[in-house]
Amino acid sequence: MNLGALLKGKTVFITGASSGIGAHLARVSAESGANVVVAARRLDELRAMEDDLRVRGAADVLSLRLDVADEASVKAAIATARAKFRTLDVVVNNAGVAGGSMALDMDMAEFDRIVAVNLRGAFMVANEAGRAWRAEKRDGAVINIASVLGFRQAGGVSAYAMSKAGVVQMTKTLALEWARHGIRVNAIAPGYFDTAMNEGFFDTDAGKTMIKRIPMRRIGDMRDLDGPFLLLATEASAFMTGAVIPVDGGHLVNSL
Ligand SMILES: NC(=O)c1ccc[n+]([C@@H]2O[C@H](COP(=O)([O-])OP(=O)(O)OC[C@H]3O[C@@H](n4cnc5c(N)ncnc54)[C@H](OP(=O)(O)O)[C@@H]3O)[C@@H](O)[C@H]2O)c1
Repeated sequence: MNLGALLKGKTVFITGASSGIGAHLARVSAESGANVVVAARRLDELRAMEDDLRVRGAADVLSLRLDVADEASVKAAIATARAKFRTLDVVVNNAGVAGGSMALDMDMAEFDRIVAVNLRGAFMVANEAGRAWRAEKRDGAVINIASVLGFRQAGGVSAYAMSKAGVVQMTKTLALEWARHGIRVNAIAPGYFDTAMNEGFFDTDAGKTMIKRIPMRRIGDMRDLDGPFLLLATEASAFMTGAVIPVDGGHLVNSL
C-alpha cells in the first residue's frame, strides 16, 4: 500500500520490531517514507526485513539489537539511532511478552520477566527518548502498545494484564509531565491479533468462543492498526496526548 509521504523526513524507532505488530508498524512506517529504526533481541530477523522495508519506501533503515529489560541496552540503542539520524521523531514502545499462569501458581521470576519487558522496559525506552528530546528542545511522540487487557480481565494472564494497565497509566502520567516539553504520549490498545504471541489460540475452542464475544465477530487484521498508528505518529494528532485508543472490534464494549 502506498501511504504517500506522511512520515517523510521523520525517524520512527520501533521496539520489538522483529515480528508481529512491531514488524507491521515498521512496514507502515516504511510505506510512509520514514527512516525506520527496527530494534529487538533477534538482530538476524531485523536484518532479514531491511530489503523489504527499503522496497516499501523507507528513506533509510537501521537494525539494532535491543533488550528493553536491560537499561544499558536501551541507552545504547537510543544513542546509536540518534547518532545516525540526529534525532528521533516517533518512538513506538511495542516490545512485549505474554505468558504467565494462574496467580496462585505464579512463579515470581515469570512475573518479573513480564513486568520487566512490558512495563519497566517501555518506561526506560520512553524516558531515554524523552530526555533526548528535552535536551534537544525538540518535539517528539511516544506511542505505547498497551492492550485491552490493560482494562479488562482474563484468567491466567494476571501479570500481563497488570503490566498493560501500567502501560495505560504510564501513557497518561508521562503525557501530563511532558506536554510542557512538546512531547506527546499516546497509546494503542489492541484487541486480539494473530501473532506469535498467541499462536494457535484462535483455532482452539477457547479461541473460537472468545471471538464470539467480540462485537465485530473477528480478530484484528494488521491493516486495522494503520490508521490509528499514523494518526498518533503524525501532526494529525497534534492536540492529542494521554489518549489510549482501543483497536479491538468493540471487544472493550461487549455486552454483559
Ligand atoms: N497479538 C495480540 O493479540 C496483542 C494484543 C494486544 C497487545 N499486544 C501487544 O503488541 C505488542 C507486540 O506483540 P505481538 O503480538 O506482535 O507479539 P510477537 O510477535 O511475539 O512480538 C513481540 C516482540 O517483542 C519483542 N521482544 C520481546 N522481549 C523483548 C525484549 N526483552 N527486548 C526487546 N524486544 C523484545 C520480540 O522480539 P525479540 O524476541 O527479537 O526480542 C518481538 O519482536 C506487545 O506489546 C503485545 O503485548 C498484542
